[in-house]
Formats: sequence, structure tokens, C-alpha cells
Amino acid sequence: MNFTVTPSRVHDAIVTVPGDKSISHRALMLGSIADGNTEVDGFLAGEDCLATLTAMRSMGVEIEHPEPTRMSIAGVGLHGLQASKSPLDLGNSGTAMRLMAGLLCGQNFDSELVGDESLTGRPMGRIITPLTQMGARIESRSGNPPLTIRGRGPLKAIDYSLPMASAQVKSAILLAGLYADGQSAVSEPAVTRDHTERMLRSMGAKVESAGGKIRIAGGQRLQSRALDVPADLSSAAFVILAAILAENADIKIRNVGINPTRTGVLDILQSMGADLTLENPRSLGDEPVADIRVRSSQLKGGSVDPSLVSLAIDEFPVLFVAAAAARGKTNFSGLGELRVKESDRISAMAQGMRTLGIEVDETPDGATIHGGRFCGGTVQSHGDHRVAMSLAIVGTVATDEVTVEDIAAVDTSFPGFCPLMASIGADIQTSQAD
Ligand code: S3P
Repeated sequence: MNFTVTPSRVHDAIVTVPGDKSISHRALMLGSIADGNTEVDGFLAGEDCLATLTAMRSMGVEIEHPEPTRMSIAGVGLHGLQASKSPLDLGNSGTAMRLMAGLLCGQNFDSELVGDESLTGRPMGRIITPLTQMGARIESRSGNPPLTIRGRGPLKAIDYSLPMASAQVKSAILLAGLYADGQSAVSEPAVTRDHTERMLRSMGAKVESAGGKIRIAGGQRLQSRALDVPADLSSAAFVILAAILAENADIKIRNVGINPTRTGVLDILQSMGADLTLENPRSLGDEPVADIRVRSSQLKGGSVDPSLVSLAIDEFPVLFVAAAAARGKTNFSGLGELRVKESDRISAMAQGMRTLGIEVDETPDGATIHGGRFCGGTVQSHGDHRVAMSLAIVGTVATDEVTVEDIAAVDTSFPGFCPLMASIGADIQTSQAD
């Protein structure tokens, strides 16, 4: 499937984007091993989270899903999961596979975790190493999926320093830590999203965070509770980008998660001159939310502060497009992790933007992007949802039509992307590839 994008007049609007992907995965996993019923509102019914939902059901958890955004999870308790009769297919989702591996290595049964072509190419050594130190037995294909987890409990507690900033690896260790004897600790080289820690605490677990080190004691039982999922800032970022690039738009995005471990994209865009304000900041359960107001702005280039990278890790495709629309050049560095996301996002975006008339100098861990004018053309998403959506937004301000190929993965994180974009005036049509 392709997107065909026609130059559009993006206009004033008030919109709501779908629920947070990271929090939806965690709600499913933690709700499943809690005691009692967890009611979830605001769930993201995207393909990634639906893969996690199916996996939890196949391990014996009863989950009602009466509406796309609502779920009721009948928690089976810390030791209530059962072996799945078939491999757990986690589709495109690195979060699902890495967190699930942490959760499953302390069970008393074996599990097999498989994924699609993109996920099968992603590195799992980063979780296999610490989980193996905890006593887990994990078989992989040279560090890649599929993974076979030979469950055995209890695990041994560890004190582990992450070699890379990764919330997925941190979370895998914290989940395994629930099944370990004693207290486990993880140190991170840079702050990463802390949704796991917040949700564990809100379910009654003691999780300490201080000086870049997070500690959790094994054996703690989780208490179910109502969970509200905010709208996903990573999805809001596409609307923010469309509004900034437009000639004259003023858009409000309601109820968006603004957890400080996620808001690097807002800081970077503001430092480039974007007119962004947070209105009505408040708490939604364990997470801070606000309405984001964004108006069209002329951006300027500069050097992006590498200390913000882990706080904006999923928004660099959006930020690359913003940089291409800015005056002057913008330097990005410290982005090595982007090369092992759903695609190599540095190279996928550089390739796409060059085709659309932008000069990009790629480096091993970043890029220099020269501000310019987008022309039309046909570009590849490399099967990556965020690359596909970022390049689609380019089409709204290009001189001619833009076609983005291979866009099926957009449904992993942003179901309803085209109708939502239509509601702000962006003409993005889906069509079958020839
Ligand atoms: C996620 C963490 C990030 C992010 C991913 C979701 C999570 O990955 O890129 O989309 O939910 O924990 P890393 O922690 O591997 O950087």
C-alpha cells in the first residue's frame, strides 16, 4: 500500500490522537500479572499493542476488549501465566519482544517469541546479556529473533549498567527483577522513558530511582487499578510537524502525554523557533498530560543538543523534516540507536528527503540537514511507520505530489492516520500499490 499526498492547506483544528503505545504495552503486561481486574481506558488499538494483547491471552489471561480504547484485564497474579500452545507472534514490535522476554524468563515454562521481517532483524543481544546474567536461558539466531526462552524461576538479582540508553532493556530487567531473589538494579547512561517504573509504583511495587540507578526487589505482587492512557506524544508529533510547516495554522492536540522523559521533541522544536505551548497541564493517573497548541512557524537550524536524544528517540524522522524546512543547516549527532529501529532511520530518512530535493550529509551517528524546498517524488518508507508518516507530512508542503511506498506499518502505531490528517486539511490518500 502507498500514500499519495497532494500539496494541502493545513488549517486550524482541535484533534485527539490515539493512545500511547509504550503505556498500552505496559498496561497489558503489568495488568496481566497483577492481582485483580485492571480497567484500561485510552488503549492504543494499533497492531503492535494488539500483538501484545493476543500474546497475553494465549498465556491464559482473560482480556475483554469491548471498544478499541477500553480493556478489562483479569490479572492472574505474579505466578499465574501459563505456557502458550503456539509461538508468541509480536509482529513489528521491539517493545513487545524485549519487555516480554524480561517477563517470561522468570516463568516456569518455555516460550517462543517470533516477529515479522523487521523485528527479526533487530538486535536482542542487549536483553539476552543481562537476562542471562540473571540466570535466564535464552536461545536466539545469533542475537536475533526468534527467541526461545527456557523458563525457570527464580532468577538471580543483578546490578547492571546499560551500555546504551534503552527503556526497553531497562524495562526487561525490571520485569525480570520481579521474579528474582533479592534486589536488582539498572543504571542508565542517559534518562529514558520511565513508564514502567511509574506503572509499577502505581500498582503498589516499590521501585527506587536515584542518580541514574533504578532498583526493584523481587517477589513484589502488583495490585490492579484503573489505568488511563494519555494520547501518544510520538503520534502528536506528526500533527505538530504538519502545523509548523503549514502557512497559517493553529492546532490544538488534546490530552497528550508530556512525561518529561518523552518531551525532547518539544524542546528541540522550540529551540528551532517553533511556536508551541502546553495548555491545561494536569495529571492523568501516573502520567502528566496537557493540550499542545502549535502554530505555523519559520524554523531556524542549529545543532541539536545530544543530551536530548534519549528524550526524543522516536521523533527524529519528524525532526529531520523540520530541519529540512528550517533556514540554514541543522546538525544531529548521538543518533546511533536510530540505525537499529524499525528501519535504519538515518539512512531511510536521508534517502527519502534527498529524493524530495533536500541536501543531507549522513554521518555514522547522525546527519547534517540543509534547509531547502521540498519537491514531489516517490519515496520508500522501508516498512517503517514513522518514516512513512514523516515523509507523508512532507507531501503537504512539497511543490508536487509525493508518493510514499509500503505504508502498511502505519497501523502499528497510528490507526486512523489518514482521516485524522484529513481533519486538519492534509490530503493523504491510501492506495494499493500497482
Ligand atoms: C520504547 C522505548 C524506545 C522507543 C520505542 C518504545 C518503550 O526504544 O524507541 O519506540 O516503550 O520502552 P529503546 O528503549 O530501545 O530506545
